Amino acid sequence: MSRKRTAVLISGRGSNMSALISAAQSPDYPAEVALVLSNRPDAKGLERAAENGIPTTVVDHKLFSGDRQAFEKAVDDILKEHRIELVALAGFMRILTPYLVDAWANRMINIHPALLPSFKGLETHERALSEGVKLHGATVHYVSSEMDDGPIIMQGAIPVLDTDTPDTLAARVLEVEHRIYPKALELVASGQAKVSGARVETGDADASGMLIFP
Ligand code: GAR
Repeated sequence: MSRKRTAVLISGRGSNMSALISAAQSPDYPAEVALVLSNRPDAKGLERAAENGIPTTVVDHKLFSGDRQAFEKAVDDILKEHRIELVALAGFMRILTPYLVDAWANRMINIHPALLPSFKGLETHERALSEGVKLHGATVHYVSSEMDDGPIIMQGAIPVLDTDTPDTLAARVLEVEHRIYPKALELVASGQAKVSGARVETGDADASGMLIFP
C-alpha cells in the first residue's frame, strides 16, 4: 500500500497534529505525516513533531509584509519540494486565499471546533454557550475558499452540560477532535471519501452511529 504523503500545517500547540502522527504510526494507516509546517517559529507543535522524527519547517507569515499570495507561494513551493499529496490544517490560524486553496482542491482538509455550518470563525465555545445549543462538537471538512466552509467529511458531537464553561467545553471538544481527525484523514487518504457536490460520500465506511460522544 502506498501511504499518502501528508503535510500537517500548524500555528500552535499541535495536539491535533500529535493525534494524526500517532494514527500514522500504524503501518496500515493510509497516510504518513511527511512534513509539519508552521507559520509561527514558536509553535510548540514543532518540537513534538521533531521528537517524532518528522521534518519540520517554518514559513513565517510576518516576513511577507501582508503579501498573502507570496506567503502562500512559499508554502506551496515547500509542499511540492516534499512531494506532499495531502494537506491537513490543524490549528493553522491563517485565512487562505483561492491561490493555495484552488491549488490543493480536494486535497486539503481542516478541523474546526464546532458543528459547521454553525459557529464559523473564532471563540466557538463561548458562542455555543451563549446561544444555548444543546449539542456542540467538531467538524473535519475539505477546505474551500470560504472560511470554515467546504464539504464535510466527519463530525463528532457532545452534549452541552449546564455546568459547562468555555474551557470545559473546549476540553471535551478537543477530545472529539483527536478522535475524528485521524478517522477523517483515513477516509480521505484511502480514497473512501468522495466529494459529490457539497457532500462527501463515504459509502461503506460511513461512520454514522460512532459520532456522538456522550
Ligand atoms: C483546535 O481546537 C482546532 O480545531 C482549532 O484550533 C485548535 C488547535 O489546537 N482550529 C480552528 O479554530 C481553525 N478555525 P491544536 O494546535 O492543539 O491542534
